[in-house]
Amino acid sequence: MKFKTIEWKNDCVRILDQRRLPQEVRYLVCRDASSIAQAIRTMAIRGAPAIGVAAAMGIAFAAKKNLFLPPQAFLKSFEKICDKMRKTRPTAVNLFWAINRMKGIFNESSLDVKKMGVRLEKEALKIYSEDIEINRKIGEHGKDLIKNGSGILTHCNAGALATAGYGTALGVLYAAWAEGKRFHVYVDETRPMLQGARLTAWELRQTKIPITVLTDNMAGWLMSQQKINMVIVGADRIARNGDTANKIGTYGLAVLSKYHHIPFYVAAPMSTIDLTVASGRDIPIEERDIKEVTHFRGYPVTPKGVKAYNPAFDVTPYSLIHTIITEKGLIRKPFHKNLKKCL
Ligand code: MRU
Repeated sequence: MKFKTIEWKNDCVRILDQRRLPQEVRYLVCRDASSIAQAIRTMAIRGAPAIGVAAAMGIAFAAKKNLFLPPQAFLKSFEKICDKMRKTRPTAVNLFWAINRMKGIFNESSLDVKKMGVRLEKEALKIYSEDIEINRKIGEHGKDLIKNGSGILTHCNAGALATAGYGTALGVLYAAWAEGKRFHVYVDETRPMLQGARLTAWELRQTKIPITVLTDNMAGWLMSQQKINMVIVGADRIARNGDTANKIGTYGLAVLSKYHHIPFYVAAPMSTIDLTVASGRDIPIEERDIKEVTHFRGYPVTPKGVKAYNPAFDVTPYSLIHTIITEKGLIRKPFHKNLKKCL
């Protein structure tokens, strides 16, 4: 890919502003942790692994700026920034996972404040580069599931834009394509934020993979016409039993897939698995501003004052998922046993 979703520079963190895609390729230059938190909250950067990386970079960035503080004040400022990051978005567990990794470094008591900045920066960069490696492994493990000549449906964006690079669900497609497999990708538009139409389509257009964009309500009809042979999506949080939170609309696709006997795959790093939650019922689902539903790019699409509902994610029950593709390999049912074994 020619673009970088996020990039650490010495004096700033550069974030590709995904709100402007596909019309404009513009980078946000974040010079403090608050602007990185703001970029996550407002979805300038989005996608579970990418927001984890951004939070880690924000924490390291803030710590480096605060090194001159006395130890107690430094500790307080560190806690404050972790808290700020934690409050940005509630569903993707990768965010909390990355914050915990940064806290782990902080809690290494042997480190003095002076060395702390360097270690935190190193850890954030490690989270970044590991994520790319992990995605490549996901691709390697998943590519054999893709059959030549197939029609593949994906929802939202689980590609390079949603990660440090390469992508999870799209990473599987990239790996299969690189091996010479040929297939067609159907891209759900993904209302209300259009991550499919704007982002997945933009990302895939930079490759030779052929795509067709659909509105979300077309998937069932396409399946009934035997155009879809598999569905592959990313994940924001996978519970102990395999229930999977992902972009709103994923659950509906999984139900449709079951009805049409189409395998439904989830591709995600192990950091998306949250063994502390027993089932999807315990996954917090973000509700966003209803203006994302009632308005389209600032223009009202509903009568003034109507009520709207805007959950950003839904939960697909484990029973509808065929296989979870991770960097450790393919995880099959029973998920409640096999997820634990892999972690
Ligand atoms: O609201 P978003 O755009 O952050 O939602 C993103 C998704 O739902 C992705 O499918 C998920 O994070 C996986 S990204 C590899």
